[in-house]
Amino acid sequence: MAIDVTQEQRETGKENYARATEGLTRRGFMKSMVVAGAAIVPASAAYYFGYRSLNGNPVKAALIGGGDEGGVLVGEHNPEFLQFVAVCDIRPTNMKRIFDGDPKSPLRKGFKKVYGGEAASIKKYTDYRQMLLDNKDIEAIVIALPLHLHAKVAVDAMKIGKERGKPIHVLTEKLMGWNITQCKQMIRAADETRSCLAVGHQRHYSMLYAHAVEIVNADVLGQIKHIRALWHRNNTWPFEVDPAAPPVVAGTNPYYRDGWFPPVYQEDYDALNDPALLKKYGFDSVEQLVRWRLYNSTGGGLMAELGSHQLDACSIFLGKKHPLAVTAVGGKFFYGPGRNDREADDHIFVTYEFPGKNYANDKHDIVVVTYSSISTNQFEAYGECVMGTHGTMIVEAEQTVMLYPERDPRKKGGGNVKSMTAGVTNTGRDKPTLEASSTWGGPAATPTGSLAAGGTATAAVSRGYREEMEDFAYCIRMWNEGYDQDRRKPRCHGQVAMADAIVALTANLAMKKQSRIVFNESWFDAASQEVPDGETTPRMPVEL
Ligand SMILES: NC(=O)c1ccc[n+]([C@@H]2O[C@H](COP(=O)([O-])OP(=O)(O)OC[C@H]3O[C@@H](n4cnc5c(N)ncnc54)[C@H](O)[C@@H]3O)[C@@H](O)[C@H]2O)c1
Repeated sequence: MAIDVTQEQRETGKENYARATEGLTRRGFMKSMVVAGAAIVPASAAYYFGYRSLNGNPVKAALIGGGDEGGVLVGEHNPEFLQFVAVCDIRPTNMKRIFDGDPKSPLRKGFKKVYGGEAASIKKYTDYRQMLLDNKDIEAIVIALPLHLHAKVAVDAMKIGKERGKPIHVLTEKLMGWNITQCKQMIRAADETRSCLAVGHQRHYSMLYAHAVEIVNADVLGQIKHIRALWHRNNTWPFEVDPAAPPVVAGTNPYYRDGWFPPVYQEDYDALNDPALLKKYGFDSVEQLVRWRLYNSTGGGLMAELGSHQLDACSIFLGKKHPLAVTAVGGKFFYGPGRNDREADDHIFVTYEFPGKNYANDKHDIVVVTYSSISTNQFEAYGECVMGTHGTMIVEAEQTVMLYPERDPRKKGGGNVKSMTAGVTNTGRDKPTLEASSTWGGPAATPTGSLAAGGTATAAVSRGYREEMEDFAYCIRMWNEGYDQDRRKPRCHGQVAMADAIVALTANLAMKKQSRIVFNESWFDAASQEVPDGETTPRMPVEL
């Protein structure tokens, strides 16, 4: 993520982060870390996010969409909170994989590994309505379908719940809806049917991000004027046929190593190549079903798929403020005829203007957030770099945080700030600030254990999927005790996720219109009919 940081400087950045975290915890500024005896340890996710065990009463759920992400959710879910009793998918190859798991991807364990012999009792469907009508014990659905289906399936399920007199709660994958009208329809339907609506922007449940947000909230970085976020990949190397993969429809192999252009398997093609069937499921062709991200009517491009996650993180860093304006450039600069052709852009460059903390009193207080996602170079991978007047925080690949102080010109001593150890100190205003080692004055000891690794310990950091599903189930149990508008909501509930969708989809509009778009606050109000100009009619409209 940081272009010119050496391995040694990375380690320094991680240690600085650990030291700052420790300092903030001891001063009572950080609740995601707790003092346990003499050590500082991360608070448990359940404690931090405020949920508890369901005491042997898991929520009975159905998965709708058992593809790549459905596989991750199955692998990551905790059956003590969410117990899958049914699954709906239309592609035979994915139905098999959701049970068997994917040996190439340890995260996609499959039902059989998670449930053992009991996996055989998970019911299989190709029609989600039928599944919900047949199985009255289903309390919740988890949607991991292509984008254009999220709103329709969510609202259909909530309506079935209302009709049967027992709500069906919904956790849908991001992006919430294909357009903003659909997001508003989902929020209204959830209110009307008394269903809990959650959206899978998992950073809301990542302890790593919780720590990073507390660093920002404690003001140790000083005033933030710029965040640089990016997700860069290189798909241009030749695609290699996997000899163990099922047979592919002739002529549909990708040419480049492109995750958005997967092969079309003969078995799926044979089962689904019927125009009436495809129309019912929301597609024009089997190829569109498999490569839905590449079509404007089924996907939302790089902003929906990747950018929405990171703008979600940026807006959390900035106090969940809505942006003021956006400008953007995007295009199909690499793919084209004969080169894994598509409708979706392959390179996007977006600039947002966000209000700073003092914007209400000072209209100069603007934070510029830049975002790029490209498909031809992965020298930098993905992450966010938050730049403040007193320090810089880099959050890399949802796994690592690094912290660097800014040079204080009043202090003596040279050297590269990227190599300086730093910690938090009080500025005299009873506010902690990040300072280079000569002044922070803490003990020379380097933090140990998980802190020394930048909060990452030795194992991979949870990205938040598990916690997101646990909290969703906990909310449902709370709601089932008696519905009340003020009841506990998931952290990424409809209103929060709609803001993420507006931020992502308005960038797409700015690219299309080639102009700067000023955000209108009424877009963010679910009760208002106002949506950005230029929204088009969805392929799968919500039936209210
Ligand atoms: N939170 C994250 O980090 C993250 C990561 C990847 C994907 N996602 C999201 O997850 C969703 C799914 O993405 P994916 O990569 O798994 O796509 P995918 O194409 O691998 O899986 C989609 C599945 O839905 C099934 N399906 C399509 N139409 C259907 C219908 N009408 N009825 C039943 N099943 C149907 C397909 O057969 C397929 O198995 C998308 O919204 C995507 O943005 C989220």
